Amino acid sequence: MVGSKHLTILILLAALSTFAAAKHDDTLVITKFGPVRGSRANGTVSFLGIPFAQPPVNELRFASPVPPTPWTETLNATEFAPGCPQMCKLPDLMCPDKQSEDCLYLNVYIPDKTPPKGGWPVYVFIHGGSFFEGAGGCVAYNGLQFARAGDLILVNLNYRLGALGWLTHKTEIKGNFGLQDQRLALQWVQDNIQLFGGNKDQVTVGGESAGAMSVISHLVSPLSKGLFHRAIVESGPLSIPFIQYGRDNKYYTQFIEDAQCLDAQNVTECLRSKKLETLVDIQESIVVVPLPQPIHYVLPWMPTYGNEEIPIHPYLAYKNGEMQSKVPLLTGSNREDGRPFIYAAVGFPLDYEAYDLALFALFGTHMFRVAQMYAKYTGEDNRIALQQLATDYLFTCPSRFMAKSFRAQGLPTFTYNFGYGYTSDFWGPYAFCCEGHSCHGVELPFVFDLFAEPSMKYLKRTRSDEELGLHTQSYWIDFVTAKSLDESSVLKPKSQVPWPQFDQQSRVWMNFTDTMPNVTAGFRTEACDMWDEIGYLLWQ
Ligand SMILES: *[C@@H]1O[C@H](CO)[C@@H](O)[C@H](O)[C@H]1NC(C)=O
Ligand SMILES: *[C@@H]1O[C@H](CO)[C@@H](O)[C@H](O)[C@H]1NC(C)=O
Ligand SMILES: *[C@@H]1O[C@H](CO)[C@@H](O)[C@H](O)[C@H]1NC(C)=O
Ligand SMILES: *[C@@H]1O[C@H](CO)[C@@H](O)[C@H](O)[C@H]1NC(C)=O
Ligand SMILES: *[C@@H]1O[C@H](CO)[C@@H](O)[C@H](O)[C@H]1NC(C)=O
Repeated sequence: MVGSKHLTILILLAALSTFAAAKHDDTLVITKFGPVRGSRANGTVSFLGIPFAQPPVNELRFASPVPPTPWTETLNATEFAPGCPQMCKLPDLMCPDKQSEDCLYLNVYIPDKTPPKGGWPVYVFIHGGSFFEGAGGCVAYNGLQFARAGDLILVNLNYRLGALGWLTHKTEIKGNFGLQDQRLALQWVQDNIQLFGGNKDQVTVGGESAGAMSVISHLVSPLSKGLFHRAIVESGPLSIPFIQYGRDNKYYTQFIEDAQCLDAQNVTECLRSKKLETLVDIQESIVVVPLPQPIHYVLPWMPTYGNEEIPIHPYLAYKNGEMQSKVPLLTGSNREDGRPFIYAAVGFPLDYEAYDLALFALFGTHMFRVAQMYAKYTGEDNRIALQQLATDYLFTCPSRFMAKSFRAQGLPTFTYNFGYGYTSDFWGPYAFCCEGHSCHGVELPFVFDLFAEPSMKYLKRTRSDEELGLHTQSYWIDFVTAKSLDESSVLKPKSQVPWPQFDQQSRVWMNFTDTMPNVTAGFRTEACDMWDEIGYLLWQ
């Protein structure tokens, strides 16, 4: 009897532990904060709209995010949560359907099968959109295909945008609320991802554009240390000025003045009393003339450094080898990253006079040296020279610079250039200048391989789009899932050309130009050598 009772208990225990291990069979996961139910589709289970913080409203507006209040009733995690407040001018694929100040939610996509021993590797993706638009939960970042093809977990998230995410004022409003939101989401992954079958010790954080600048910031933030183990930086403009803590910022002061809070006893309390719509409207209509940092006209909201979040300017941190997270890096940019910005800003062919003026405004005394470097691109329309210059200074050369810094620390480092001219009108209103070009952001549908996802049929694609999607994604997957990476590791997905690491001698880049990517050496060497010498703090 005793024996059989024991046996019953053993069987029960075994059943329970199988149940725990085989949670993939169900779509119910009990997170640290409460139960969530996802939905199963085509080999992936997705959990959409999981709160990772309390709604950042009322006294939590302009305050650090706070972990969510636990819940007991099962949360139906079957729909994207609203995006953070914004006026989204990105293509529809990158804009949220709805928005709310209560927006701190993340999405988890897991393979619909048994996790391997130790759990699936995890990729946490931070979306771009100039720190004032976009959302994790939208079509462009759909993780169904990525999780299924990669046998990994993909997490994407919302973070506060615009003034609500990044405003700083004197020492009273500290800024970086959006960065703290991202960090809390990374902490959520550490605390919860095992319950989804994930491996919390193999987390890659990645992002594109403003998302890449966010990753650039987390890499140098002592507060983000230990929350991830690899990093991907896609088109991260390290040379764009960050905000300096405590320094007078005309744009932000104007925002507070327009909100009629500049003379308030307590500016924070005054801003908290304003209607959300009022703040978003002001953010859109703000006019400051002249701005000491002209780049703030296009990118006003940004991370703040010179505080405990980001102690020194990220560029200097990399230069001095003082990144806080010394982890493997995959970084790169697109062949014409700068194109949409230049063509959106200058709607007419640029003559020499205007071109010289632009060079002087942007580069001061360096303008002669810069003009010489780009002389071969000048002619009837100098937007061509300006776009090459913007691509180099903002994207290609900072990528190479980061790669050099990581390599100098003995860290595994992979670099790419995405030079494929996408034929679709993916960029919407910008398409007039991007169709057939490798503009900013154009690698995204290839990385997430939206072409292979059946539910994305409406995305225009050609045969070579489909092939390149498959190829591009397989390298990203290889980086995220490789058991270990060291200085001699090579990325080599099945039936693909090996991607060796970047180093000072070989300077190898993976070239995503044709349907079959291949490596090339020494990309834009002369121009990047010049920019490395001049440095990336010109507009600081
Ligand atoms: C979740 O979905 C189930 C099934 O559709 C439904 O019965 C339940 O009421 C929903 N729960 C909540 C909290 O909306
Ligand atoms: C403003 O009010 C907030 C919230 O009540 C408070 O935490 C903060 O210390 C006050 N700041 C100043 C400068 O009085
Ligand atoms: C799953 O695949 C089917 C058939 O290819 C497709 O019709 C459906 O839209 C897909 N569902 C999702 C959620 O992607
Ligand atoms: C890649 O480039 C190398 C060197 O130019 C060449 O030998 C090789 O055939 C190329 N591979 C493919 C698959 O195109
Ligand atoms: C990629 O290859 C194309 C032509 O095949 C070339 O023009 C371009 O410079 C290469 N890019 C890199 C990063 O080497």
